[in-house]
Amino acid sequence: MPVVFDEANRVFKLDTPNTTYAMQVIRQGCLAHLYYGASVEDTDLGYLICHRNVSFAANPQEEFPDRTFSFETVPLEYPCFGISDYKSACLCVQMPDGTTATDVRYQGHRIYAGKPKLQGLPATYAGEEEADTLEIDLKDSVSGAVVTLIYTAFRFHDAIARSCRVQNTSQDSLYLRRVLSACVDFDHHRYDMVNLYGKWARERQVERRRLAHGKQSIESLRGASSHQHNPFVAIAGPNTDEMNGEAYGFSLVYSGNFLAEVEVGQLDTARLVMGINPTDFTWKLGPGEAFTAPEVVMVYSQEGLGGMSRTFHRLYRNNLCRGPWKHKRRPILVNNWEATYFSFNEEKLLAIAQQAAQLGVEMFVMDDGWFGKRDSDKSGLGDWFVNEQKLRGGLKSLVDKVNALGMKFGIWFEPEMISEDSDLYRAHPDWCLHIPGRGRSLSRNQMVLDMSRQDVLDYLFQSMSAILSSANIEYVKWDMNRNLTEVSSRLLPADRQQETWHRYILGVYQLMERLLEAFPNLLLEGCAGGGGRFDPGLLYYAPQYWTSDDTDALERVKIQYGTSYVYPVSSMGAHVSVCPNEQTKRSVELQTRGYVAMAGTFGYELDLTKITQEEKEMMRRQIQQFKELHGVITYGDQYRLVDPFQDADMAAWMFVSEDKTEALVQVVQMRTDPNPPLRRIRLQGLDPSKRYREQDSGRILSGQAWMNAGINIPEMYGDGAACIFHLLALEL
Ligand code: GLA
Repeated sequence: MPVVFDEANRVFKLDTPNTTYAMQVIRQGCLAHLYYGASVEDTDLGYLICHRNVSFAANPQEEFPDRTFSFETVPLEYPCFGISDYKSACLCVQMPDGTTATDVRYQGHRIYAGKPKLQGLPATYAGEEEADTLEIDLKDSVSGAVVTLIYTAFRFHDAIARSCRVQNTSQDSLYLRRVLSACVDFDHHRYDMVNLYGKWARERQVERRRLAHGKQSIESLRGASSHQHNPFVAIAGPNTDEMNGEAYGFSLVYSGNFLAEVEVGQLDTARLVMGINPTDFTWKLGPGEAFTAPEVVMVYSQEGLGGMSRTFHRLYRNNLCRGPWKHKRRPILVNNWEATYFSFNEEKLLAIAQQAAQLGVEMFVMDDGWFGKRDSDKSGLGDWFVNEQKLRGGLKSLVDKVNALGMKFGIWFEPEMISEDSDLYRAHPDWCLHIPGRGRSLSRNQMVLDMSRQDVLDYLFQSMSAILSSANIEYVKWDMNRNLTEVSSRLLPADRQQETWHRYILGVYQLMERLLEAFPNLLLEGCAGGGGRFDPGLLYYAPQYWTSDDTDALERVKIQYGTSYVYPVSSMGAHVSVCPNEQTKRSVELQTRGYVAMAGTFGYELDLTKITQEEKEMMRRQIQQFKELHGVITYGDQYRLVDPFQDADMAAWMFVSEDKTEALVQVVQMRTDPNPPLRRIRLQGLDPSKRYREQDSGRILSGQAWMNAGINIPEMYGDGAACIFHLLALEL
């Protein structure tokens, strides 16, 4: 049974195929965390809790004079602030009298098949045959706050999703000062923390550090999950590598301010907490009202970081992404941004589209600059009507012409923003986030709309819908090009101002959901100055995301490698762009640019009217090749083979189809060595007993040989030289 309650021992146990998570209701109704890790059949796991007299520990009053009972040694499942657990808390409720101590105790629970939706929030989903859910109610009898912890164990994935809901059952308003989504206590601290840091054009770089006493955390206070830190952290054994060892992954399904913190305490244990960043967060909960915290997806693997990632990939592909495009090959697109920036007209766009159609490209995407008075980034945002100076025949005529070329049409929006020089700002100067009496900070010359306001959302829905229904538009790139400042909503009273950050994100989700309901076949691609909001929250609406504004293939190798710690290639927007590259001025062979873009949704972003005949032919072949290989790439399991963050010279990864009959290995030489060392790479994930033919050389070997002995990498010259190996199993 995936979820059980052992009544005699009062132990809750959740099982996935290879993992177990356990909790126990102990004395006085405290809910203690017992275990998370590899499968354990027993439920009688209460022995794991240590009782010990710890100096300077405080004992709950009911336990007095038992000095061996304290939260120094008893790990609370959902720790609260102010009642003698001095480590990071998940919950802090402020009462009408201003006090903040919070203490929740077991009230009851429910177990059922399936998975509930989270009110207004993105989350993984599962049918009754796919998952089982446990809800545990904990009550703070003094404040009247009731917390419901919600756990879903997936039957086919080693993942557990959890979130919580806080309800106010009192007659007075309560203030939630802190509501984190998850806490996991580890019985020791000999672990590494792995996280993905970055900046604009260099997102999701892998960083690994040894846990140390005190708190180590990553967070965002930018109003978006951010370029700087992804809402993901892994806790891995010191010897854990790609293939072996324990790895716990925690991924927050949320796109706003977040905190992921690991604290190593005085008794050398470690506690991880994750959720909405408590800084500048307070949520007023009126009598009877409830607040839902976003979901944390927890994955445990004994097959190293690679095993962890593959579980995230499968889960997010199947149980997070939605819509008709979820399992379909996405259209191979050409985007005009790097080709034209703001300076284009219908003629120019059609010239690119015509060339693209001849190469086999399937969709033309018109990027920034088609609306309002948008000739630079100084004006126009918010005015979502067609700029007929540029598109003289109007939008429909352009779309029809693109469709007539046999291509779909996609369009760019940046709904959350407003330019000072726009009709919208002149009409509604109070619609942006701002604080009266303070300056309105500009970033990329723009301000941020107050997405917590229903009138703003309604305006955006109407103006975007009008555009989307005016022509056959099948794709939207939803961009967001700055972070939030002066965060305040004019419609909220003083004691609700700190709700604005979260209400903003709920507004973004609401608008995306409304648009998808109105245009159910629309393919959304997320974007925030590249990958500044590449998180599971967004993937619930947009099954693909523009991974980075950096399209340099070598930079992309690292960005996509880091991104693959959590996110499947089917979600990574990746394009072949011009050479030398616009961001780095580096030159990389077209072949390599193609291979790297193929490890994503694949497309082009350059002026196709300016390419040579030779390049055209190569692109035609690339498109053909991607069509042939996309199955193993998109639906296969990814194995990371050579880590460019560790190995200065090379990066390699591979995909293996689920039935293990096909594999694709991609190798990129990051830096050339004039006297190249011999390189051989051991493959992973094949069936050892199957025989595979490497398509280029014709060599036939067992999966066992390819994995144990490896594959020789040919001598390659030039930074960014690359090769691939395509392996097909022989029919028996
Ligand atoms: C952001 C995006 C780019 C492009 C520009 C347009 O930077 O990441 O791909 O759409 O905005 O202004």
